Amino acid sequence: MQSIVLFGPPGAGKGTQAQRIMESTGLPQVSTGDMLRAAVAAGTPTGLEAKKYMDAGQLVPDEVIINLIKDRIKESDAQNGVMFDGFPRTIPQAEALASITEVSHVIAIDVPDERIVERICGRFTCNECGSVYHDTFNPTKVAGQCDNCDSKDFKRRADDNESTVMSRLTAYHEQTSPLADWYLSKGIFHVIDGDRDIDEISKDIIEALK
Ligand code: AP5
Repeated sequence: MQSIVLFGPPGAGKGTQAQRIMESTGLPQVSTGDMLRAAVAAGTPTGLEAKKYMDAGQLVPDEVIINLIKDRIKESDAQNGVMFDGFPRTIPQAEALASITEVSHVIAIDVPDERIVERICGRFTCNECGSVYHDTFNPTKVAGQCDNCDSKDFKRRADDNESTVMSRLTAYHEQTSPLADWYLSKGIFHVIDGDRDIDEISKDIIEALK
C-alpha cells in the first residue's frame, strides 16, 4: 500500500485539492481535521478532549491523532493507500506513519502567511457533501446552492476566525514545518506554488504524482 500526504499551512488548499485529485489518484481522502470535527459533533471522549485544543488553534496531542489514524487505515477503502490531508503534523506523527504505511509522495502546497487569513475567514463548506468554497475566491456557481450535490445547507467552522488562525499558523511554523526537512531527506517532498488558480495547482499536483 502506498499513500500520499498533502502538506501545508492552514488554508493552503489541502482539502480543496484533495477533493479535486481524488478521482485521478483513486485514493480516499483522510483528513484528521474532518475526523476530529466529527468526533466533536458526536460528543465522543476523543472529541471532548480534542475540542479544547482545536478551539485554541493548537495541535491535538500526537497519541490521540495516531490512534485515530491507526483505526482509519484498517478500513476496507484504505487497503490500497490513502491521501492524508493535514496529517502528519509533527515528527512523532510522521514516524508513526512510516511504521504503518509507505508514503510515496509528500505534496507541499506553499502559500504565504499573508494570504492565509483572507482564505480562511471567507471559507464555507457544504453540510451535505463537504465541498469547500470561498466567498470571493471560490464561490458556488449558483448563489446558495452546492455545485456538487445541489444542497442549500452550508456551514462555517468554529475555528475559522482571525485570532484562532494566527495560533494555527504559529503551531504550523513551530511544530509542522520542521517536517519538510524530514521528508526532503527522504527525496519524496514536492513543493507546489499554492498562490495561484485552483485548477493550475491541481494540474501540477497530478503531474508531481506521476
Ligand atoms: P484542519 O481541519 O486540518 O485544518 P488546517 O490544517 O488548519 O487546514 P484547513 O482545513 O483550514 O485548510 P486547507 O489547507 O484544507 O484549505 P482549504 O482547502 O479548506 O485542522 C483543524 C484543527 O484540528 C487543527 O488546528 C488542530 O487543532 C486539529 N488537527 C487536525 N489534524 C491534526 C494533526 N494531524 N495533529 C494535531 N492536531 C490536528 O482552503 C481554504 C479556503 O481557501 C477555502 O475557502 C478555499 O475555497 C480557498 N482556496 C483554496 N485554494 C485556493 C486558491 N488556490 N486560491 C484562492 N482560494 C483558495
